[in-house]
Amino acid sequence: MAEKHKKIQAPRGIKDVLPDEQRYWFWLENNFYAVAESAGFERIILPTFEATELFRRSVGEFTDIVSKEMYTFKDRSGNSLTLRPEGTAGAVRAYIEHGMHTLPQPVKLYYWGPMFRYDRPQAGRYREFYQFGLEVLGDSDPIIDALLIQTLVKYYKKLGLKDVVVRINSLGSERSKARMVGALSKFLAVYKKNLCADCKTRSKKNPLRVLDCKVARCQEIIGSASGVMIDSLDEDSRKRFTKVLEALDDMGVAYELDPGLVRGLDYYTHTLFEIAIRGQEDLAIGGGGRYDNLAKQLGGPATPSIGYAGGVERTIDILKQQAVEIPDLAKTDVFVVQLGDRAKAKATGIVEKLEQNSLRVSTALGRGSIQAQLREASRLRSPLVVIIGDQEVHDGNVILRDMNDRSQETVIDRNMAKLILKKLEEKGIRVISSS
Ligand code: HAM
Repeated sequence: MAEKHKKIQAPRGIKDVLPDEQRYWFWLENNFYAVAESAGFERIILPTFEATELFRRSVGEFTDIVSKEMYTFKDRSGNSLTLRPEGTAGAVRAYIEHGMHTLPQPVKLYYWGPMFRYDRPQAGRYREFYQFGLEVLGDSDPIIDALLIQTLVKYYKKLGLKDVVVRINSLGSERSKARMVGALSKFLAVYKKNLCADCKTRSKKNPLRVLDCKVARCQEIIGSASGVMIDSLDEDSRKRFTKVLEALDDMGVAYELDPGLVRGLDYYTHTLFEIAIRGQEDLAIGGGGRYDNLAKQLGGPATPSIGYAGGVERTIDILKQQAVEIPDLAKTDVFVVQLGDRAKAKATGIVEKLEQNSLRVSTALGRGSIQAQLREASRLRSPLVVIIGDQEVHDGNVILRDMNDRSQETVIDRNMAKLILKKLEEKGIRVISSS
């Protein structure tokens, strides 16, 4: 076959998300927006590429992400740009660039979008993958750390995930972290000749990154390094960490202490955490932590902050693995059934009113029996149906039917749209109403 007619496939580690998969994506996305909005976060849309320097200075020169995994290119003016490997650096850049430190603090941002890493493609590891993220900028209170974790646990529960485990650790303040790095460096020097080639370099340039290494012989050495880490935490950092754990206890959020947890990004200080599914801790569904010094490092004002990002594909994989039932994608939010001539005239006004509330509304065009109209509502997978007969027109109300459990209730006309929005939100179908 001529070269120019050869089939072109998606690049390695890059995938299509086909129509069959969409209900999972909507499930995660809609519930994420609902949980984030109700916890007071505001959405930000960040650029997909940024100046390469941004990631070097935030994620860190000697991390795997920056040293091996970035998609970096020069534009036609010779500027070095990088497809974002993560969202935190961009969020902090935007916070500084738009003077968000002048707003009431903390500023709470959420985002959703593709990230790019030249990772080794395998189950749960892609080169383009989606993250949802939450960042709380401008507040150092330990309670914030616990509240963020609580919000995330709530989100995963809402999705229907089981066996969710939160692992947590603290690197302490910048000073404490430096001490930890010093102690670790001494510790690693003893085992230097047993480390892999990459870790030999890491142990000199950035010893914490040795703890991210997956090579078996490095893992063995790392296993005994946690004592060194715990001992390096200074008194203030220890006190702060205790407050975070106490707040989690008070909130009834379960966690596991993991003194070996350092996470592969350089900007962290104090609290670090990962969320995983029990038995599959190697492939975290998300991770986060404090980055109190990052804004300053990027030329902004001191802005103590904490955030988290979750992997969309990994979360969906687990939902499938656990056979969690996800609602089918509805093609419509509400179906209007009308019976009788007066009802038909009124239905037009009702459809309009519902549409004004940003609802997707369908209705049967012809007359049709109630059964025929309900069949059409089922075919469209409409979760709710509004039924109007001549009696309802007379009484100024409508019947609202839940297609799932077939329950019906009579609702006064003017309360209808609000109630429908509320019910849809409860079902995780429609979450941000315009009303
Ligand atoms: P991260 O741990 O590098 O943290 O990534 C967060 C999550 O993104 C991972 O736990 C995983 O679920 C998903 N993920 C990472 N790489 C891949 C991949 N190659 N394929 C599929 N999923 C992947 C961050 O990115 C930080 N920005 C989190 C953060 C926010 N810290 C503070 N604020």
